[in-house]
Amino acid sequence: MSWFTKFITSSLGQKLVMSLTGLFLILFLCVHLYGNMQLFKGDQGYAYNVFSHFMTHNPVIEAIAILLYLFILLHAIQGIALWVQNRSARGGQNYAVKVTRTTNTNSFASRNMAYLGLLILVFLGIHMGDFWWKVKFGAPPVVMYDGEEYQDVFALVGASFQIGWIVAIYVLAMVGLFFHLLHGFQSAFQTLGIKHKKYTPVIRFLGWVYSIFVPLLFASMPIYYFFFK
Ligand code: HEM
Repeated sequence: MSWFTKFITSSLGQKLVMSLTGLFLILFLCVHLYGNMQLFKGDQGYAYNVFSHFMTHNPVIEAIAILLYLFILLHAIQGIALWVQNRSARGGQNYAVKVTRTTNTNSFASRNMAYLGLLILVFLGIHMGDFWWKVKFGAPPVVMYDGEEYQDVFALVGASFQIGWIVAIYVLAMVGLFFHLLHGFQSAFQTLGIKHKKYTPVIRFLGWVYSIFVPLLFASMPIYYFFFK
């Protein structure tokens, strides 16, 4: 076994993978949120479709997207493995017991990270099947801007957000995302050893702000389309 395999399968290595992949996903959500906020521009989808076109045709972003898919899988698989290990190590006791002892955050979020993660994973399966698959492999409607053809992703999103059960799943998943981030954000920094009298309260505050605003803004999109469009 190489030193790398040894390290990555150790308890510290596993936590480090969770922390680094989690921080990468936190950054991805900022970019994804920025792109999706173009839905609210009121320009019949021009800005949204141009942004989507850029994101799906730029080779650097395409390469980062492959890293993103890998990190989502790694984060999910490692999370499930840690949860199973902790459960069996404690004779069926909850993963939370370990989490709460190491981080002192005896909250609903820290006790249910694995279940919240699974909810987000199910959401991602539905979400990527609905949008990503159709954009990459389907035949979405097209529009012409300045004589050039663009996929009308704006129309695709608008049509999905007219369907009640899809809107309900998005809202439920965003509640799950709120709790998952609430614990995950500060826990990621703690795993990296960033524990400081001055910086920890700042990280905790940023974690709260991020965990509230990011899922709230994501949830506002299906809600807006369903009720006001
Ligand atoms: C609620 C508002 C949201 C809208 C309107 C939206 C829209 C989209 C669209 C249109 C795509 C496919 C476009 C493409 O392939 O470039 C996509 C991909 C994706 N979305 Fe979302 N999304 C939303 C929320 C979320 C959330 C909350 C997450 C994560 C928790 C997420 C994760 C992803 C991922 C991982 C992909 C595939 C990445 C890629 O290749 O671009 N999305 N989304």
